Amino acid sequence: MKLTQEQKKFVEDLLSRMTLDEKIGQMNQESPSIVGGFDVPFSELIEMLTDGRISQEEFGRLMATAKQDFHEDDIRAGLVSSVMCNDPRQNNALQKIAVEESRLGIPLIVGFDVIHGFRSVFPIAIAEACSFDDALFEDTARMAAKESRAHGINWNFAPMIDAARDARWGRVSEGPGEDPLLGSRFARAKIRGLQNDTSSLKNYVAACTKHYVAYGACEGGRDYNTTSMSDSQLYNVYLPAFRAAMEEGAATVMAAFNDLNGIPCTVNEWLLRGILKGEMGLEGFVVSDANAIRECVNHGIAADDRDAGIQAALAGMDMDMGTHIYKDYLKEAVQKGVVPMKVIDEAVRRILSVKVWLGLFENPYVPEADIEAYEKGLPAEHIALCKKAAGESMVLLKNEGGVLPLSRKQKISLVGTLADNAEEVCGAWAMAWKKEDCVSIRAGLEATGADVSYYPCGGPEGEIDFDEADRACADADVIVAVVGETDAMSGEASSKTDITLPGGQRELLSYLLNSGKPVVTVLMNGRPLALGWEAEALPVILEAWHLGIRMGDAVAAALLGDITPSGKLSSSFPAVSGQCPVYYNHPSTGRPGSKSKFTSRYLDAPWEAVFPFGHGLSYTSFAYRDLSVRETEDNLEISVYLKNTGEREGTEIVQLYTRDVAASLVRPVKELKDYCRVSLTPGEEREVRFTLPKKSLGFYNNDGCYCVEDGEFRVFVGGSSKDTLEQSVTLSF
Ligand code: BGC
Repeated sequence: MKLTQEQKKFVEDLLSRMTLDEKIGQMNQESPSIVGGFDVPFSELIEMLTDGRISQEEFGRLMATAKQDFHEDDIRAGLVSSVMCNDPRQNNALQKIAVEESRLGIPLIVGFDVIHGFRSVFPIAIAEACSFDDALFEDTARMAAKESRAHGINWNFAPMIDAARDARWGRVSEGPGEDPLLGSRFARAKIRGLQNDTSSLKNYVAACTKHYVAYGACEGGRDYNTTSMSDSQLYNVYLPAFRAAMEEGAATVMAAFNDLNGIPCTVNEWLLRGILKGEMGLEGFVVSDANAIRECVNHGIAADDRDAGIQAALAGMDMDMGTHIYKDYLKEAVQKGVVPMKVIDEAVRRILSVKVWLGLFENPYVPEADIEAYEKGLPAEHIALCKKAAGESMVLLKNEGGVLPLSRKQKISLVGTLADNAEEVCGAWAMAWKKEDCVSIRAGLEATGADVSYYPCGGPEGEIDFDEADRACADADVIVAVVGETDAMSGEASSKTDITLPGGQRELLSYLLNSGKPVVTVLMNGRPLALGWEAEALPVILEAWHLGIRMGDAVAAALLGDITPSGKLSSSFPAVSGQCPVYYNHPSTGRPGSKSKFTSRYLDAPWEAVFPFGHGLSYTSFAYRDLSVRETEDNLEISVYLKNTGEREGTEIVQLYTRDVAASLVRPVKELKDYCRVSLTPGEEREVRFTLPKKSLGFYNNDGCYCVEDGEFRVFVGGSSKDTLEQSVTLSF
């Protein structure tokens, strides 16, 4: 995000003409109030729903008759900077009030949670990250930006780039997994896709990287929980993706709900002013998470709303999402000299700069023709990208006996209610999909002309119908069982202590296996599941996550061999829930887990992941040979030969890891340093090269300083974090 001198002058001129009320108005994101249809305030209604006084059905009935109030009078008075809305005509109407009826005519910045696509819903982020395809990450973001703009949204609350190593946390679904390097490349590509095509106002939006920071480390994987960690861990694991996003020019950042070592991120001056704006150079502004300024009272760090607002403003929080606290208390705080005017001016300058960069002063409206174009349906190239993304995001975890791909001659019994559910394919945080665009696995398979019969039998919720399972087995050459989680089982506020397959699905799988017929298991889920039993018992497992609107097409194509799976896990899968957090790049311990008792292990579970980070099979096979590492002045030149040793064309994701053998701080057992995708025809062999800057072998110490230390480094290259060739090199800097 870069402004010209002229644009900067425009911002300063506008700022000089604003009243204090108007300035504070720019720091206020107004959430729509829900009105009508019930006799209690909306907040109480939510409480009633949460504590069970009313049922979900009753709540739905009340909401159906309710309306949203966007506080038009406040917009007219210049007291609102931003709204959240995905209805393009509503957005045009609100912009018209802001631009034509407020004193200074400052347009609204319209935010929305476009996390993995808008109407074109792509795979959830943890799945898309399994493609290790930076170009794909960028393409899907670019399309999401265009669709957002066509709906009046110019500020996407994405990418979510929280490193997450505890699969109990429901929000693992929203981000790129456990690794800081993959997370950083994902973040960069997403920022480029969302922001870089400024050739037309229709093509780009402001990104909002979130949640700053260390939200993924919430204790016990419980959402909104406390977070504690050393500075070195913060700098080496949780900050890198944000640093990468800032280097790529991310326009805005959302602060996280959690406290970090005792100070909530919302009021954490060290994090906001010190690291984010100072060290990492955020150019735009920071917004709080929803209601988070008020929650500082619950955290017990602020005495009341006024105190929370003052602390947040002083810490560098530029915009308040949804509480009115800035609107209600900042004016008095400035007049009393508690909050200096320069704090307000800095926040408003940042917010106006983003609005100017977005071109909102030139044209805040969506042309009616663009709205109508989407009403006619999704363009073919959008659907094609959804299919491509879904195809690349699947991970073949196991394929014993080469059961997959299936032949079109086989009689398939398709089992599991998830298989026939077109609404579950999109996963968490998808709000703009249309049913007519969504393809269930059943519909996807039927469309191929395969010989498929469907038997619901049961799913993640409710009873299993074993009689139906008998019928499914009797009829089949092969059983395809689709099991997993509903979309509501991951995402925000969806933490779990037990992350095995929910409901009776294990029992169902075991019953199907007992039939003696080949069973192919397709997983449809939003988090790494505990798959200890499955990894032992099931011959074939295809991890298909929530793949977005074209999930059915992609799964059908993979099952029938029209595409060859190539995804690799972006997160490790535990054997049992109690192993969480489990991740490949853990710090070296004094007693690495082993068969012997007095080592870092459990008595009743494995110490390692059952499917580790980077694991994923193909319908073909690959062999690595001759890893070589050559030192040049600035780099390590690394080379390996990769051969397709199978009978099909396939794509391998080649992964480069290193280990710092002895350092002044305990370092991870392995760290991903680079990766690339290589497609080979049967029998083809190719040299794969990486250039690794030697300075990337350093780490941050507990003072937040980056150090590169002399000594031995191990270099690993292979097709997963576990299965690699190895070389050693000794470096002095
Ligand atoms: C979530 C954010 C989201 C915001 C606005 C919050 O509850 O934590 O990720 O962007 O709501 O919808």
